[in-house]
Amino acid sequence: MSNFTFLQNAINTSPRLENLAAAIDLLYAPLTRSQDAWQRWCYHGHVLPVANFACELAIAHGANLEQCAAGALLHDVADTVMLRDDPQFEAASVKIAEAQLCMCGFTAEEIEVLMRKVIEPHSCTDGPPPTLDGKIVASGDALAHLLTDFYTFTTWAHLGDDDYLAHREWVLGKLEKDLTRKIFFEDARSRVEPAYQALKLVFGGAGNA
Ligand SMILES: [Fe+2]
Repeated sequence: MSNFTFLQNAINTSPRLENLAAAIDLLYAPLTRSQDAWQRWCYHGHVLPVANFACELAIAHGANLEQCAAGALLHDVADTVMLRDDPQFEAASVKIAEAQLCMCGFTAEEIEVLMRKVIEPHSCTDGPPPTLDGKIVASGDALAHLLTDFYTFTTWAHLGDDDYLAHREWVLGKLEKDLTRKIFFEDARSRVEPAYQALKLVFGGAGNA
């Protein structure tokens, strides 16, 4: 985790976060041999960047660093056992996350708050997460989409699909959601604005020129 300084510093302050990070590391380790490109890429390419951005935002905005780091590390954890399009994905994420938190010493009350107010609402599909920690993790997820090679990766992973325009529409919709519905802090929004504009131009097609 040497590239993820904010996350590493958070781990250094909390033995149970250290245990959780080690357990998650073990869960994701077999995916390096997965047939699925997203599963091979997602831990270092997405989960750890999300957790690092979440820790950085948690410090800047006075959120609970341990809860934000734990929520971010677990936010997509069903990737370790199934493909994204599996209808059981959300339910499996909840089950695995609860078990991991419990094993690492988080209390029942903390787990309940993490599950209902941070992990479950992180995609903001049904509106904003209700707590500061939840907003931090959702924002960290969006920052990781916009400030890493996430959109390049997903485009590469969809090469060969027959419908290029459908992928382009998916990217443009997700870019919009990331900027306008998942980032809750003005400093973070300003930080991603150049990347958002560049990606929108790249994926916008001739009609946006
Ligand atoms: Fe994510």
